[in-house]
Amino acid sequence: MSSLTADDRQAATDAPAKTIHPVWVRVCHWTNAVAIVLMILSGWEVYNASPLFSFSFPKSITIGGWLGGALQWHFAAMWLLMVNGLVYIVLGLATGRFRRKLLPVTPSGVIADMRAALTGRLSHDDVSKYNYVQKLLYIGVILMGVLIVASGFSIWKPVQLQWLTALFGGYDAARYVHFGAMSAIVLFMIVHVALALLVPKSLRAMLTGKIRGAS
Ligand code: HEM
Repeated sequence: MSSLTADDRQAATDAPAKTIHPVWVRVCHWTNAVAIVLMILSGWEVYNASPLFSFSFPKSITIGGWLGGALQWHFAAMWLLMVNGLVYIVLGLATGRFRRKLLPVTPSGVIADMRAALTGRLSHDDVSKYNYVQKLLYIGVILMGVLIVASGFSIWKPVQLQWLTALFGGYDAARYVHFGAMSAIVLFMIVHVALALLVPKSLRAMLTGKIRGAS
């Protein structure tokens, strides 16, 4: 819990709002969220046409209706995901945001913050700074985004992009990589959305860009 006094809280309310997520971060973040959900739901329908494992996804949680319809959703959302992801990565590198917000990540920092999180001692007072677990998860999911797009291209164009398909160990192996990256992103999303709902001011900041009373 916060250890702020009533005076601290008043001062925080009076302090001018500070922008922690510029507009490009917010537009990219929410566009990405829509694109990822469309990709996953249509991808599950595509998977059902030729499952890799002994299960299929229930029709009620897929979109597209059948293989052809799902592929149309998958390719349409793929361009949105890829162009938006490229803009986010280029701006994240060019503006120094990735360096400032996501680095450094040290094993001791991750272990200490993980311990604090599991014992309920992790502070959420200042949402302008990511803790080490967040940093690790955000870097991880950005890399998973790159991996899922690259493995997706390798199974879409295995003839033209032979070198890429070979890099994944062949067409069949690339399908498992693609499925694994999807699973990692779904797991990330479950934890990420739960935490965003648990710390509503972080969600407000990702919508408005601003927080009140940050030092
Ligand atoms: C409806 C779904 C989502 C919600 C409600 C949500 C919420 C949030 C919030 C509140 C933050 C602010 C950071 C914080 O204080 O922790 C954030 C940041 C972030 N989210 Fe999400 N998110 C969603 C979907 C996604 C998806 C699908 C991805 C990627 C697969 C994603 C990746 C990220 C990343 C990388 C950041 C850090 C952005 C930066 O600071 O540059 N989010 N999200």
